[in-house]
Amino acid sequence: MTDDSSNTPTDDPSEAFGPNRQREVYASGMLADLQPDLPISPDELREEAMQSLSEEAYAYVAGSAGGEDTKARNREAFARWRIVPRMLQDVAERDLSVELLDQELSVPVLLAPIGVQSIIHEDGEMATARAAQDLGVPFVSSSAASTRMEDVADELGDTTGWFQLYPSADRDVTASFLHRAEEAGYEAVVVTLDTPTMGWRERDVENAYLPFLDGEGVANYLSDPAFRESLDAPPEEDERAALWQFIEQFGDLSMDWDTIEFVREQTDLPVILKGILHPADAREAVERGVDGVVVSNHGGRQVDGAISAVEALPRIVDVVDDVGESGGTAADGFAVLFDSGIRRGADAIKALALGADAVLLGRPYVYGLAIDGEQGVREVCENFLADLDLTLALSGQDSVTELDESVVIDTEATN
Ligand code: FNR
Repeated sequence: MTDDSSNTPTDDPSEAFGPNRQREVYASGMLADLQPDLPISPDELREEAMQSLSEEAYAYVAGSAGGEDTKARNREAFARWRIVPRMLQDVAERDLSVELLDQELSVPVLLAPIGVQSIIHEDGEMATARAAQDLGVPFVSSSAASTRMEDVADELGDTTGWFQLYPSADRDVTASFLHRAEEAGYEAVVVTLDTPTMGWRERDVENAYLPFLDGEGVANYLSDPAFRESLDAPPEEDERAALWQFIEQFGDLSMDWDTIEFVREQTDLPVILKGILHPADAREAVERGVDGVVVSNHGGRQVDGAISAVEALPRIVDVVDDVGESGGTAADGFAVLFDSGIRRGADAIKALALGADAVLLGRPYVYGLAIDGEQGVREVCENFLADLDLTLALSGQDSVTELDESVVIDTEATN
């Protein structure tokens, strides 16, 4: 469907995603005999992406920790909550925008930080950033990107970009990344807490495959002055030694709340903690004055057997509300984001109804990237946003910020 027929209505990506996208697809099919380039169902999308990827790269992207029980649960657990649509609500005009951290986002969706995109498509993060920029969908750029954070930021232009930080075992590197991110124009820092080291990912262990040791996903490190300072020889002279140094420094199992204080001292940007699942951790985040959390289990890639993200969400929202109600001003404007298992519009509606302010779309967009680069990311996002907008409307809702618990029921609740 790439060679757009002039018969098809053009759409303004900032509004009416659903009906516009639907009309565009049906008009292309019926008038010009053009079918969508990418599969629409997320499962078929994944299967088609598999054809474009090496066996190892596919396993790296699709795989999760252990027996992948948590990955499966991330999806299954959504079924427990059901949307209860309202009728006759006049939803002709809908508002998908949200305000987060004093930033206005046109949609309640960000592209999740996914590293090493060069193993997925030769254009990697640059293609994703271009699609994000084109659609105005915010992108969270990974520490483990295959392209320097400065280049990703340039490609994003005015579109919101947040930088995802893996705190390094070498604090000078952490500090340097934060200074670079601020300088490059990122508008928030997302500190990933759940990966002080990599989970036991059976598929990758089986393949003995770790892309970083192939020199993929290390652009931010190899270009970093503090990282280079820690090397005996520059990476251009001894790449192997530099890559091993990266492995040494990548994670920090001694990470604790002091690490977060250190991060906050290094930057004026808002700081969001990614990987929160326990309400006690959420409470501490609010009380310490952090700006928000991402409720996430990293797509089940870290702790197999962990709670699904959607089961963790209501308990976390409760403690954030609780701190607010007991006079904790830190809870004002505290952002709760959500990922792990978002595949369709209804998933996003459920997460927003359960108290998330926005969701992060993960694997689906990189499957689009695998199939068709920038255009693939764009098409996946357009379809996802169309589905989200239509599901909102057909649920009798006209504003994502007004979604609350009354929109869903918990079919497993005992009373
Ligand atoms: C990730 N994720 C991730 N998270 C992060 O904070 N920094 C990173 O560099 C990466 N890299 C990464 C690579 C790959 C291949 C995947 C699949 C995931 C986790 C990501 O941000 C998000 O939490 C998950 O993708 C959510 O799970 P689903 O919905 O994609 O299954």
